[in-house]
Amino acid sequence: MLLDGGVRGFVDLHCHWVAAIDDGARTAEDSIAMLRALRDVGFDEVMATPHMRPGMFDNDREALERAFAAMAPVLRAASDPLPVVHLASEHFFDDVVFGRLIRGEVLPYPGGRSILVELGQGPFPARLQHRFFDVRKAGLTPVLAHPERYEPVWRDDACLDPLLDAGAHLLLDVCALVGKYGRVAQRAAEKLLEDDAYEAACSDAHKPRDVDDVARAIERLERLAGPEEARRLLADGPRGILGGTGACMSPAGGLR
Ligand SMILES: [Fe+2]
Repeated sequence: MLLDGGVRGFVDLHCHWVAAIDDGARTAEDSIAMLRALRDVGFDEVMATPHMRPGMFDNDREALERAFAAMAPVLRAASDPLPVVHLASEHFFDDVVFGRLIRGEVLPYPGGRSILVELGQGPFPARLQHRFFDVRKAGLTPVLAHPERYEPVWRDDACLDPLLDAGAHLLLDVCALVGKYGRVAQRAAEKLLEDDAYEAACSDAHKPRDVDDVARAIERLERLAGPEEARRLLADGPRGILGGTGACMSPAGGLR
């Protein structure tokens, strides 16, 4: 693990560290262990992106805000400095969540410019590009989670071109580079990396030991793309997506 105490300035745009709200951290102890491990890998800021996925994780914005707020005393009680944290969500891009998005009932990234979305398995939804344009009209830039894991991308990553034309950003789950999701997803990630298609890279960590994979994956990213490009994907790219600053929780657990 790359222990340099958080001086690397990485920003994690996608992490399931909030306890007991989805398939991520189960307990507050898990949450702290994840944040501590991510700090040790080099992340100074870590978004909370719990799932908003009707039928699987039936979380609306208020439920996610409550779960995030419940973490504040836990973070405040931690004995060591933790990354700065913010609340957003991983929005499953179905009709229900799209409706919430248009009504402003979602959780964009702090700064209010961008929103994390994921797609299901199988073919991309009909009129996906149009819907991404609608997201843009609503004032948000879609950030597509782990494009390397989608079957249409495995067949031909040109399927992403209409989404990029609609202004979407592609977010690499860095662990794809060490085979966490299989060889096909790894090859897709390597190809998209080679093509400079990614705007940023994230952990998508769900449990403390996932961060061991993240550390190995960052080392592989640096070998494959070079240290400067790795830094762009882990620090400058995420900061660009965030744009401004928003309400966040400091390492001491208070809002600032
Ligand atoms: Fe995720």
